[in-house]
Amino acid sequence: MLLALESSCDETAAAICTADGVLLASAIASQIEIHRQYGGVVPEVASRNHVLHVRPLVEQVLAEAGVKLADMRAFAATTGPGLVSSLLIGTSMAKALAAAENKPFLAMNHMEGHLLSPFMAGNGPPRPCVALIVSGGHTMLLHMQGVGQYRLLGKTRDDAAGEAFDKVAKMLGLPYPGGPEIDKLASQGRADAYAFPRSFHDGHSLEFSFSGLKTAVLYELPKLDLRNPATLADVCASVQEAILEVLVEKLILAARQCREKLVTVSGGVSCNRGLRAKLSARCEKEGLTLLLARPELCTDNAGMIAYAAMQRFQLGQTSPLTADVDPNLPLVA
Ligand code: KG4
Ligand code: ZN
Repeated sequence: MLLALESSCDETAAAICTADGVLLASAIASQIEIHRQYGGVVPEVASRNHVLHVRPLVEQVLAEAGVKLADMRAFAATTGPGLVSSLLIGTSMAKALAAAENKPFLAMNHMEGHLLSPFMAGNGPPRPCVALIVSGGHTMLLHMQGVGQYRLLGKTRDDAAGEAFDKVAKMLGLPYPGGPEIDKLASQGRADAYAFPRSFHDGHSLEFSFSGLKTAVLYELPKLDLRNPATLADVCASVQEAILEVLVEKLILAARQCREKLVTVSGGVSCNRGLRAKLSARCEKEGLTLLLARPELCTDNAGMIAYAAMQRFQLGQTSPLTADVDPNLPLVA
């Protein structure tokens, strides 16, 4: 068994994973309500709350799994990318536990947690695929050959897909985080009501850009009566469609280019119901096998970090206790 901690942004999380990749316990202390009043994550506040939650969470997952610290073979933590003051809390705690128990420590990349999450819950082991990761901070397409063998195919030049959801939602007066709010309203609107731009949507490029969409919505705003629920729903549906169309078509294009039949999608935005439906339909039409993480494993959690760490540990990989946090830790060198 291995215990992992995640504290890269505003969720403090702990999880315990077995050698065969089964989660025995996974717990999250969400700070969404705290940061909502500021319209986004305040790093100093996030860090202080991680300090409050990290130890009780470790105790909670040990109790839930019915195990002791001494039963752990290793301890892992997300060391990047993320907010430096947040990363330091989970990392310091996992290192302290590793030192106290005289067990190895694993420094984990948050994006690798997302990347491997579709292989959890009996879908493993991780195998070659084309992977789309869509989170609040990242949007990337990768060709994965195996654990640790990742080739970057394309990424966003500016905003991430989740960031586009959140920023547009803020402009529309919706609460933080905006992705789930747009998801809800979009199901009641017409996706073709407004023609918002789709950048690099040329059938060749695997790069993304979402800042133009944000600007387009900003220019449209003065013409809109957002107090009318039908108008708001139409804008949400049209914005969502502009984001989803690009994500889905580029994933299909990447699979064709790499001649892979397996595709995976992970990260917070992969909770989006419209995206999940569109992906299933398009992949079926293309004869591709689609793996999606369970919704509770799409947004930030420690289960995915524990699973990824277990994969690394079984390959004989560990990290020194001197391994530092890195807010810009790259997934592909
Ligand atoms: O992976 P994640 O929890 O954190 C990061 O690593 O960034 O992703 C958070 C992002 C936020 O931008 C949030 O708005 C978005 O995922 N998100 C959604 C949905 N649920 C979460 N976006 C669209 N539709 C959703 N249902
Ligand atoms: Zn994340």
